[in-house]
Amino acid sequence: MEIIKCNSYEEMSKKVGVGIENQFEKNPFSVLGLATGSTPIGLYQYLSNSKVDFSKTFSFNLDEYMDLPFNHPQSYEYFMEENLFAYKQFRKSYFPSEKNYRNYDVMIQRFPIDIQILGIGTNGHIAFNEPGTSKDSLTHVVDLTENTIKDNSRFFDSIEDVPKQAITMGIKSIMRAKKIYLLANGKHKKDILEKSVYGEINSDVPASFLQEHKNTEVLYCE
Ligand code: PGA
Repeated sequence: MEIIKCNSYEEMSKKVGVGIENQFEKNPFSVLGLATGSTPIGLYQYLSNSKVDFSKTFSFNLDEYMDLPFNHPQSYEYFMEENLFAYKQFRKSYFPSEKNYRNYDVMIQRFPIDIQILGIGTNGHIAFNEPGTSKDSLTHVVDLTENTIKDNSRFFDSIEDVPKQAITMGIKSIMRAKKIYLLANGKHKKDILEKSVYGEINSDVPASFLQEHKNTEVLYCE
């Protein structure tokens, strides 16, 4: 695993977009693992304007806040609707919820993820797998750390409005994907990205487990 430096955010987004287009040319039934956050927005714009056909596609989102209705503007389901699903029709899109999370991994094993999109938090989290999360974790409920609540408060009116819990795919769930793209945008992600890719593999930096994945591409831009 190495860090591929892109010249711009657009270039990074397009690289992954083209990777997805190629996969769907080979197999229109491919399954996508989708991420939210600011980083994949450029990728979703690229895909929204692409000819790629997702009408046979199942998608699984990585995570969702607890206790936010799906139509709350900060829910991840709402985010996906706004940024991708409004432009591209999918066969079926799943989000982990209080109701389904015990079966989420069974569903993913039935429809194995061909391409998983990932961002990274400034503390090395992937999805909501915060430092300390076990490598064997499956989809589970998490208490968000102060760091993550602070990072995400920019999307809410105030820090008090940020939910304190979320449901997330675990490290093991993510590692089952056949191909993973880890994307990082901005100098503030550089240190943690280097630690994740070249540092020791342990749960202090959950993204470091990706070093053990056979087909992960790490893309970075400033
Ligand atoms: P960001 O979040 O894309 O908004 O930087 C990434 C993450 O926290 O996983």
